[in-house]
Amino acid sequence: MMRALSAARLRRRAATVGLALGLALVLPGCSAPTPAAAPEEPEYTWNQMQGEKLIALRAHGDVTRGAIAFEVCQGCHRAGALGRLDGSYPRLAGQHDTVLIKQLTDVRAGRRVNPRMLPFADRHVLSPQDIADVALYLSKLPSPPDNGRGPGVGLDAAARTYQDKCTRCHGDKGEGDASLFYPRVSHQHYRYLLREMVEIRDGVRRNANPRMVEVVKPLTDAELDALADYMSRL
Ligand code: HEC
Ligand code: HEC
Repeated sequence: MMRALSAARLRRRAATVGLALGLALVLPGCSAPTPAAAPEEPEYTWNQMQGEKLIALRAHGDVTRGAIAFEVCQGCHRAGALGRLDGSYPRLAGQHDTVLIKQLTDVRAGRRVNPRMLPFADRHVLSPQDIADVALYLSKLPSPPDNGRGPGVGLDAAARTYQDKCTRCHGDKGEGDASLFYPRVSHQHYRYLLREMVEIRDGVRRNANPRMVEVVKPLTDAELDALADYMSRL
């Protein structure tokens, strides 16, 4: 069973064991150091409840501590976590805390690549409790409809596609679903939404829900563009 686990999974598991199990129980017979570049995990299961993500989800977040933890993030994500209109830095204000926790821990686990941010959000900087704090703080910040939008082309067709393929997860009004880890997409910057959809479709962002990947696979760049524009106006 241990041999079936990938190196990345093992490392994550190894980080967790201090918690309850104790190293001896989990790693006997596993002497070789894990290779630096872990291969793709063919057995990847979306949003597995384990490791530091589970710890952060179970922790009680504290908004006051979260505000302090957010100070180092502001240089990029801007005051109030409103992000930048050009989408280079996403808006975090008003995003579900569960989504923020999943995304941050996915970045730390290497499933979502963000080398610019990682030095500010890695394990030696933020503890799982800090993640819970900052996620709760961000989820309660107001997200006004002053986000970056697209050129307004093809919105009717995009609305039909969105209703047909996306509402069941992202909601009629783009509100997402905190309990299911589906992100809010309303009031998010158009260019960020577009970039993420392209990366999810093309397998660059590797932490995405496989059912979403299926749904965006057949869509063209132009269709994704109009969809991003449509969502930015929800
Ligand atoms: C050096 C710039 C930088 C800093 C500092 C930074 N981030 Fe980010 N962050 C980014 C970029 C760029 C992205 C978008 C990455 C992408 O395009 O996929 C991002 C994305 C995110 C996301 C994913 C949002 C989503 O909608 O999925 C979260 C959550 C996040 N950052 C939280 C934080 C927190 C919390 C901090 C502070 C502890 C922080 N960031 C500090 C640059 C930064
Ligand atoms: C089965 C549920 C599901 C469906 C259907 C789905 N999505 Fe998603 N979507 C997600 C999840 C979950 C994420 C966050 C990535 C992750 O961690 O899995 C996401 C992420 C996104 C993001 C990036 C948001 C961010 O903050 O980074 C965009 C944009 C998006 N989806 C658009 C769409 C569009 C457009 C459709 C329809 C064509 C769609 N999604 C269909 C579940 C879904």
